[in-house]
Amino acid sequence: MYDGGKIITGLIIGIGLLLLPFWPIGNKWASKPPKPELTAKAKEAGKCVEPKTFIRQKHMELLDKWRDQAIRGGNRLYINSENVTYDISLQNTCMQCHSNKAKFCDQCHNYTGVDPFCWDCHIAPKEKK
Ligand code: HEC
Ligand code: HEC
Ligand code: HEC
Repeated sequence: MYDGGKIITGLIIGIGLLLLPFWPIGNKWASKPPKPELTAKAKEAGKCVEPKTFIRQKHMELLDKWRDQAIRGGNRLYINSENVTYDISLQNTCMQCHSNKAKFCDQCHNYTGVDPFCWDCHIAPKEKK
């Protein structure tokens, strides 16, 4: 004698438990988060062009939007969610505050296995040692 319903429920719970360690908790870096370093300039500014949770997860989309707005739209001013205006420039805006590319962008990208090709054309900041 067996109860099909219980077996199925048991299977579902069992598979759920097996998958539990792979369940994303909050964000992709839940297990071993790299700590991107802020430059003195960034620390002084205190905030990024958008709130941290947004920029952390969506900076690639924001950069695409910046490129389209600047190049296709011909508008190089970005007004953020708090009504602060920034010049649209990867090199002169993002990389002025985050001039420590190796310890900021690269460290995070290496960890997540991303290798943006932007620097084939865009000039990366010169790192001071
Ligand atoms: C005015 C200085 C400044 C500019 C310009 C700037 N940032 Fe930031 N950025 C910061 C600061 C400060 C933080 C940390 C924010 C915090 O802790 O709340 C930060 C955080 C970030 C983070 C998240 C880091 C983490 O620890 O999760 C990313 C990604 C990022 N910035 C990318 C960019 C990109 C891409 C641009 C250009 C589109 C840019 N930033 C422009 C100052 C700046
Ligand atoms: C907190 C970690 C973190 C920091 C700091 C960070 N990135 Fe990223 N970045 C990521 C992750 C994760 C992805 C991949 C996201 C995805 O595939 O959805 C990514 C993707 C990108 C992409 C898209 C690449 C592609 O091939 O799709 C660009 C462009 C980019 N980052 C630029 C930057 C720049 C410029 C900086 C430094 C100013 C920076 N990132 C800092 C985590 C970070
Ligand atoms: C094949 C060369 C090339 C590659 C690769 C490239 N770009 Fe660009 N990008 C350009 C050129 C050329 C412009 C126009 C420059 C101008 O008119 O100021 C530009 C403009 C931009 C702009 C707006 C203006 C500025 O100075 O920032 C952004 C933002 C931008 N690119 C982001 C990116 C990002 C992010 C990547 C990587 C995912 C990338 N680009 C990869 C060539 C390239």
